[in-house]
Amino acid sequence: MRPKLHPSILAADHGDLKGEISRLAAAGIDYFHIDVMDGDFVPNFGCGTEILRAVQRNSSIPMDVHLMVNDPARHIKFFRELGAEIISIHPEADRHPARTLAAIREMGATPGIALNPGTSIETIHELLPLCGHVLAMTVNPGFYGQPFLDFTLPKLEKLGQLAEKHGFSLCVDGNINPERICQLMPLGVTNFVIGTALFRGDCEEMIQKIYEENM
Ligand code: DX5
Ligand code: ZN
Repeated sequence: MRPKLHPSILAADHGDLKGEISRLAAAGIDYFHIDVMDGDFVPNFGCGTEILRAVQRNSSIPMDVHLMVNDPARHIKFFRELGAEIISIHPEADRHPARTLAAIREMGATPGIALNPGTSIETIHELLPLCGHVLAMTVNPGFYGQPFLDFTLPKLEKLGQLAEKHGFSLCVDGNINPERICQLMPLGVTNFVIGTALFRGDCEEMIQKIYEENM
């Protein structure tokens, strides 16, 4: 099965946002990945509402919103109303993640759990049946362009097995490139956030190459 691609708009050229969105949409991506950061849960500020509006104005590709914010339950309705189809929360940032995941589902979006590199599967095991999506971080959240953390690999392998059992989509986020996609697909990873690697060169060419290599 061909990989599902979620380009991270955080790493795009924001001086040419309209062009970047249109080029990616034309290349046949599956989702736009929107990194929302509050400067508190992570030490950086990320995409705000104007970015979601710009994506909506310039394409009909669905949005996958990665909430790197404390107490995300306060904001899910807002992002759903802005058109988010997948909403992922970090369980460390939420005292009642089970309630928040259920609320996301009730709003008609796919609930996602974002798992930090240092957070083990055991801590979220009970939440897996409530998720439609698991976003496994392969860098510490907060910045694009960081090195891939190899110690996450055994966890990805376990998550690949659990994805089949529970029926969630397994997505990786952090320094993903075409070679990593070839390495991780056999583990059961189906969805890929790509930031820096995609925007370094011709994004359409790279997307075609990824699809050809993973038919
Ligand atoms: C990191 C973000 C990522 C990031 C990906 O906190 O969650 O989505 O933008 O960018 P790369 O692929 O450069 O790691
Ligand atoms: Zn992300």
